[in-house]
Order: sequence, then structure tokens, then C-alpha cells
Amino acid sequence: MRLVLVGAPASGKGTQAAVLSEHLGIPKISTGDMLRAALKAGTPLGKEAERFMSAGKLVPDEVVIGLVEERIAQPDAQKGFILDGFPRTVPQAEALATALDRAGSKLDAVVQLDVHRELLTERATLRRTDKRTGQIYHLKYNPPPPGAELEHRADDREETVSARLDQYDAMTAALLPHYGALGLLRRVEGVGEPKDVTARILSALGAQ
Ligand code: AP5
Repeated sequence: MRLVLVGAPASGKGTQAAVLSEHLGIPKISTGDMLRAALKAGTPLGKEAERFMSAGKLVPDEVVIGLVEERIAQPDAQKGFILDGFPRTVPQAEALATALDRAGSKLDAVVQLDVHRELLTERATLRRTDKRTGQIYHLKYNPPPPGAELEHRADDREETVSARLDQYDAMTAALLPHYGALGLLRRVEGVGEPKDVTARILSALGAQ
């Protein structure tokens, strides 16, 4: 299964990708996580990405395309993968299709998680991540256990979240019709208990 998760900031892509990865036995590949790891490690790529990420803007296509091409060529991704947060633009989608074509494979589906804007803001601003395990929590909907070492993402401040949501609307205006025209797009309601959202995704994929 080669799957792409598309959704607005805080729509639940990371949460669902982790569960689906376990369920389907394929790796989750998150460009946001890869960029944040590069930033933390202080690499040149991380430093370049930081100024875009902290402003809620997209990192340039050539940077993320290179990262993903390298990652999907790794042995653990040969049986399939779940892409979380990539592609975000039509050039990224085209680069992915070309890389898969070269390897003799193709995407199976693109799942769009649908969540309304007011809920997205609340989900983002109250999100916390355990910096040791990467586990995603929410102060209201999924409280962390005692002892978790919590991090608040720099781009989860309300004003940056708003810029990221605007960016998402602009980006999907071209990306979703692109995948719709290819017959790959599955829209899934992203509001409700996480386990119910997972069940909807699996049902949309015919994989339950
Ligand atoms: P990225 O890390 O991909 O951020 P994003 O797309 O904004 O998505 P988020 O990580 O904010 O949210 P999510 O959908 O994973 O939600 P989550 O599961 O955490 O990208 C960050 C930045 O990197 C971008 O802004 C850009 O600068 C750059 N970048 C990344 N990829 C790029 C690309 N391809 N091209 C260019 N630039 C790129 O859930 C959110 C919260 O809600 C959590 O607290 C969770 O516990 C809670 N929650 C989840 N599901 C539910 C539910 N069903 N009910 C209640 N609460 C829930």
C-alpha cells in the first residue's frame, strides 16, 4: 500500500499515520518530522527550512522532494509507505509520481482528512508532543501521561497556525483536483474519536 495523507494543519495526519503504519506494517514518512529533526540537529537543511516553517510557509519544493526521494528508496519503504504531509504542491506530486514510476510502482490512494477550521485551531494550539517518543498528545482530547516530556511546537502559536491554515487552502486548490482527476482521492471525515477516523480511512481504502 502506497498511501498519501492530505489534510490541514492539525487535521490528524500524524495521529492517523502512526496507527495506520502499525496496522498495515509499513513505515510512516512525515516531511514535517524530517524537517524538524534536521532543524534540531542544526544541519544546513534544517537552518534553511526554519525560516519558512516558523512563518507558517511551505519549504521550497526542491528541498522536500530530495528528502522524500531519498527516504522512499530505503529498504523498509519497498513494500509500501504512508506519506504524511507530502506532497503539498502539484510539482511535489509530479516528482513523487516520477520517482515511483522509475521504481516500477505507483500510488494506491490519497486520503484527504476533512476537519473544520475552528476545530483545527484548537487542535493545534493545545497539541503537545513527547520529545523522547514523538507521541502526539492533546491537552483536552488526549491528555499526556504523568512524566511525559512535553514540547509545544514553535509553529503551533495561534498567529502561525492561522498562516498555515491559509497556506493549506491555497495549496489544496490545485493539489486536490490533481489527485481527483487521477481517480486517487478519497475524502474522509476527520472529526470524531481517532479510532473512528481510522476505521473510516480503512473502509475508504477497502482495507478493513
Ligand atoms: P507538518 O508537520 O506536516 O505540519 P502540518 O501539515 O501543519 O500538520 P500537523 O503536524 O500540524 O498536524 P497533523 O495533521 O499531523 O495533526 P496531529 O495528528 O498532530 O509540517 C510542518 C511544516 O513543515 C509546514 O508548515 C511546512 O513549513 C513544512 N513542510 C512539511 N512538509 C512540507 C512539504 N511537503 N512541502 C513544503 N513544506 C513542508 O493532530 C493535531 C492535534 O489534534 C494533536 O494534539 C492530536 O492529539 C489531536 N487529534 C488528532 N486527531 C484527533 C481527533 N480525531 N479528535 C481529537 N483530537 C485529535
